[in-house]
Amino acid sequence: MKIVKTVAEVREQVRAWRAEGLTVGLVPTMGYLHEGHASLIDASVRDNDRTVVSDFVNPMQFGPTEDLETYPRDLDHDAALVEAHGGDLIFNPEPGEMYHEGFSSFVDMTVLTQELCGLSRPVHFRGVCTVVSKLFNIVTPDRAYFGKKDAQQLAVIKHMVDDLNMPLEIIGCPIIREDDGLAKSSRNTYLSAEERQAALILSKSIKLGMELVKKGETDSSKITGEMTKLIESEPLAKIDYVKLVDLATMQQIPALDRPALCAIAVYIGKTRLIDNFFTEDV
Ligand code: PAJ
Repeated sequence: MKIVKTVAEVREQVRAWRAEGLTVGLVPTMGYLHEGHASLIDASVRDNDRTVVSDFVNPMQFGPTEDLETYPRDLDHDAALVEAHGGDLIFNPEPGEMYHEGFSSFVDMTVLTQELCGLSRPVHFRGVCTVVSKLFNIVTPDRAYFGKKDAQQLAVIKHMVDDLNMPLEIIGCPIIREDDGLAKSSRNTYLSAEERQAALILSKSIKLGMELVKKGETDSSKITGEMTKLIESEPLAKIDYVKLVDLATMQQIPALDRPALCAIAVYIGKTRLIDNFFTEDV
């Protein structure tokens, strides 16, 4: 397993693999890797001859009041995890390697990015689409792996690849959770012991929503209403959104009459956490 810092080194390695006829998978991450990331690496190692993990806290996708400075970083830990899961290369560039002086080209998406997290994080998806496009151009993978944990991000990336004819396959992977149900996230490290306990309200409300769907409830406002009531019973929780949306457009729907996503974003203290379920997975 190798760690490289420059675009040139990635290109050289991928060129050598291609010359041997090997396939390449990419797992884009912002580092501080946990078992959620590991599951994406496992999927890539299973499907491809070689796996590249990018490890880059992308400044462009953070808003001015967000947690860019405090976002946790630990390259040694990340390297051990990638090695243990059979990854072959970590690309860990400095911001200047990705965004040289005078950088001025962006990948922007309308529609899908105007809903859910796009409303409270207006610059976020422009930053995600731009950096992911760059990573696709640098690594030129056959397949790239994204978690359903960030369901809107997965939908946005699939849409971008389709719109812009990018020659690779996007694979969505299931949410990995702690034993008590909390979805694994690098941001969970921000939570105090009391907040960590309170954060369980997210997965509990997701479970409640899934049970309602399983029982045959199709009225969106009944489902989101019950989930909202449950979340509001937790004093440390403040809801950003609880929504049922069309999987293709991310627009809210009144009834569950098509493939849908139930997505929530909740502040626990100052930490914003997300969780979701796809109705097709219920
Ligand atoms: P990051 O938050 O590090 O997540 C990297 C990938 O891991 C994403 O595809 C995310 O959905 C997935 N992931 C995180 N937690 C997960 C969990 N509990 N179960 C399954 N998958 C999980 O998402 C980003 O970084 C960035 O926006 C990025 C795409 C790298 C662009 O900068």
